[in-house]
Amino acid sequence: MITDKSDLPSHTAFIMDGNGRWAVKRGLPRKMGHREGAKTFRKIARHCKDIGIKYVTFYAFSTENWKRPKEEVDEIMRLFGEYLEEAEDFRKDKTRLIFLGDRSVFDEKLRGKMTELEQASSEFDEMTLMLAMNYGGRSEIVHAAKSAAEMISNKEIEVKDIDESLFSSLLYTGGAPDTDLLIRPGGEQRISNFLIWQSAYAEFYFTDTLWPDFTPKELDKALEEYASRNRRFGGV
Ligand code: IPE
Ligand code: IPE
Ligand code: MG
Repeated sequence: MITDKSDLPSHTAFIMDGNGRWAVKRGLPRKMGHREGAKTFRKIARHCKDIGIKYVTFYAFSTENWKRPKEEVDEIMRLFGEYLEEAEDFRKDKTRLIFLGDRSVFDEKLRGKMTELEQASSEFDEMTLMLAMNYGGRSEIVHAAKSAAEMISNKEIEVKDIDESLFSSLLYTGGAPDTDLLIRPGGEQRISNFLIWQSAYAEFYFTDTLWPDFTPKELDKALEEYASRNRRFGGV
């Protein structure tokens, strides 16, 4: 367990990978893996809060995941809807909720619920939970570039005003610190279009554990490893 809070990452991000294989290994349909993964998501989010992590991001569905069979996509969307219904719990949790990604694909009811939850939780500052849904890192950067272009054409800023800090503020994560620690269970060692701007100097932690089997104990292990690393940010 990390006892010194200054050893904790400000922003930890998770690529929740391995749900499908978890189910297939058990002879179950892939969607059962997503159900189990959704439980792990709740458990891990709670643990992050308990140990005092301020910003946590979970990759739930990528802009590329639409390529999957309809039955699987439908189940992920159903689980997302279920989470939105119960997310009111953040009131007692004092957790701020933010959704990352292009939400124009979701129906009006879902979009309304997302905005409602974000607004209702906007004052909470104990922990910010960001859920990446129909999220792609490249699409996020293009979206931010378009926002900057619009600001120029509305004469709100000039080209010379665009710097890294302004650009970051236009990303879906605007206002959150850069990712310090990026955890990917599921055995793959790649970023899969997740937080590609924000992770420029992130520490990576890869594990073969499939996401539904990922535990608070393993998160503690990742945090210990993170605390032991020497981050140089290009310095000496
Ligand atoms: C969950 O894991 C990630 C999502 C895209 C929802 P996967 O469904 O990718 O699981 P594997 O990698 O096929 O095992
Ligand atoms: C990354 O997992 C996306 C999410 C966890 C939401 P994928 O399973 O889609 O990534 P690839 O296809 O292995 O790169
Ligand atoms: Mg996968």
